[in-house]
Amino acid sequence: MASWSWGATLLVFLCFSACGGELITKLPGQPKNVGFKQYSGYTVTDAGHGRALFYYFVEADSADPLSRPLTVWFNGGPGCSSFGVGAFMENGPFQVGENGKLLRNEFSWNLESNMLPLQYQQDNLDMNIIPLVLDILKEGIPILLFSGDQDSLIPLTQTRTIANILAEDAKLLTLNKYGPWYDGKQVGGWSQSFGEERDGKNVTSLTYATVRGAAHEVPFSSPSQALTLFLSFLKGSALPRPHA
Ligand SMILES: *[C@@H]1O[C@H](CO)[C@@H](O)[C@H](O)[C@H]1NC(C)=O
Repeated sequence: MASWSWGATLLVFLCFSACGGELITKLPGQPKNVGFKQYSGYTVTDAGHGRALFYYFVEADSADPLSRPLTVWFNGGPGCSSFGVGAFMENGPFQVGENGKLLRNEFSWNLESNMLPLQYQQDNLDMNIIPLVLDILKEGIPILLFSGDQDSLIPLTQTRTIANILAEDAKLLTLNKYGPWYDGKQVGGWSQSFGEERDGKNVTSLTYATVRGAAHEVPFSSPSQALTLFLSFLKGSALPRPHA
């Protein structure tokens, strides 16, 4: 997951007209009184190999979406679509209810940010994503990687290894050692943050976090912890620590 400022948001909007992005007027089963816009389409990343990204862009549910950050979201791991699983089961504005009806998600991340889940057509996700995430990081765009500690598909040590590889490749310092973070008074999980000194200040650019008790789809199984995680990521602050 990465967060851009509105400058990049504008680029995405410009890209929508140039890349043939479609405004979704209404999803099947969508509830009434939806005030934010949704777009979808394909953007070609490698014409020679027939690679393209499918995206579903959800504007922030705010009077002024351009003032909100843009979050790009990838689901890692096998059989996990950022669109089907990420957007419709985890952090998107809707969840699928009975008879195909869509219900509003009260923990939707688009309450705070414009959301762009990206989907690779090829499904060798890990191989494609690590270099891409590294490029994003090198541009100074912050990244949050997280794993449920009850995830039966991806062990959290694998995500931690990826975070360490990224930190090393991007030459980042450890700013906060691996230790517990708090969701209110409860331990939310464990985290480590990496970053660099810019103008005499330490700036967090990569956060790795585990989420206590969460399964593979963290925002689905632990929506409150996931939102705490996301809000501190958006603020650019380290995760709440007991005596930090
Ligand atoms: C930044 O973090 C490093 C590692 O924790 C620390 O040694 C350094 O003093 C910090 N710099 C500032 C400006 O806080």
